[in-house]
Amino acid sequence: MSKKADIGLIGLAVMGENLVLNMESKGYTVAVFNRTTEKVDKFVNGRGANKNFIGAHSIKELVDSLEKPRKVMMLVKAGAAVDALIDQVIPHLEEGDIIIDGGNSHYPDSIRRTEYVESKGLLFVGSGVSGGEEGALTGPSLMPGGSPAAWPHIKDIFQNISAKVENGVPCCDWVGEGGAGHFVKMVHNGIEYGDMQIISEAYHIMKEYLGMTHKEMHDVFDEWNKGDLDSYLTEITRDIMAYEEDGEPLVENILDAAGQKGTGKWTGITALDLGVPLTLIGESVFARCLSSQKAERVEAAKVLGSPIKKFEGDKQAFINNIKDALFASKIVSYAQGYVLMNEAAKEFGWDLNYGGIALMWRGGCIIRSVFLNKIKDAFDKNPALPNLLLDSYFTDKVKDAEQGWRNVVGQAVIAGIPVPTFSSALSYYDGYRTEKLPANLLQAQRDYFGAHTYERVDKPRGEFFHTNWTGRGGDTASTTYDV
Ligand code: 6PG
Repeated sequence: MSKKADIGLIGLAVMGENLVLNMESKGYTVAVFNRTTEKVDKFVNGRGANKNFIGAHSIKELVDSLEKPRKVMMLVKAGAAVDALIDQVIPHLEEGDIIIDGGNSHYPDSIRRTEYVESKGLLFVGSGVSGGEEGALTGPSLMPGGSPAAWPHIKDIFQNISAKVENGVPCCDWVGEGGAGHFVKMVHNGIEYGDMQIISEAYHIMKEYLGMTHKEMHDVFDEWNKGDLDSYLTEITRDIMAYEEDGEPLVENILDAAGQKGTGKWTGITALDLGVPLTLIGESVFARCLSSQKAERVEAAKVLGSPIKKFEGDKQAFINNIKDALFASKIVSYAQGYVLMNEAAKEFGWDLNYGGIALMWRGGCIIRSVFLNKIKDAFDKNPALPNLLLDSYFTDKVKDAEQGWRNVVGQAVIAGIPVPTFSSALSYYDGYRTEKLPANLLQAQRDYFGAHTYERVDKPRGEFFHTNWTGRGGDTASTTYDV
């Protein structure tokens, strides 16, 4: 064999195929293998014809064609298939070789796999890859984590194939050890769920409450895409509004039952595990669940009626309010997502670079937006920022949007239009800025019925008290525990 390949890829499905074409276009020779080997031949003789690809018909053949240290990337369905493949690849590799999982794996699996692969004298990388089919081909956002010793060997390939933003900065950097890369990708997906839901709520209000046409909504999204809300998801929403089939907006012929593959749910579960109020993403997952109960909703609509009232007043002013609600909710969502990453970093011992993560998401991925520059700036100013809402830029922006946001949530509630993310974001904001919450009563209730104890405002934190509220209970307090 003449030239050895710089990297090998297993899994020629849509993402794999586009990613290797991207690699090849940047000057790398890529060996490719697929379990159904006809796919290899079809690719090498089709889209990959006359390019620097080496088609392999077995894992051994693939591994043998690689430059050392060998880099074997897999893009297969997350879950058991990844473990099975790792076990098939390992016997062919030598110390220092690298296995890369570029699928949407759950981060605990990547933590476990890093340990397992390292125990065999090899290196492991679990990398988030975002941007869909087009991103894979032209430049995705890449979020690699795993064995730090692997990074110098894959850095050039990863940064060369990734999306670039201003001044050629790559949307790819080392995220951290173990499952850090897949964790950050999971949070990206959770934020993606949130961004999609807040945009959908804006659309719902404009359509049902303001009675706007798709052309009018197209123009609004187009306008919003020129300012603070400039993002890929705003842009495609604008285009979806204008897309017609047989003279009708296609979006109205799409069934209102959302699908999900689970990454948003993982984000919500992780937030509950870590005790982080990730309310907006949580609500956006539940909103998809409620939407999928289509048949039941149709029945419920007959029983419970449809109370939607129409808007009366200054329409343009209210559209500006919706923009405020959207922007403020988006700030809350990212603030919550960053708190989650911060807690996970403490829990798992990761040294996450929060500004760097904003840059990785700045281009190539589904949540790419100009807004992420501001997040980068905030963490550049203060790398230990506890919450984005406390950065002066975001504090001012939310305060500017606050009245409009409240107006939209208030009117939507009165009109009977569901706004789970707009309203939960506002409740979080109100809760976060409230010095005294009613949790004193909650603690009293816990102590009343279960002797769970409470702390006092007139005593130092960490001292716990129990009251015999009824005179019937004893003095024994239940053991204190915190989530
Ligand atoms: C990306 C996306 C992608 C995700 C899809 C579908 O970053 O390119 O996040 O990884 O799989 O968006 O997700 P759902 O089916 O859960 O909506």
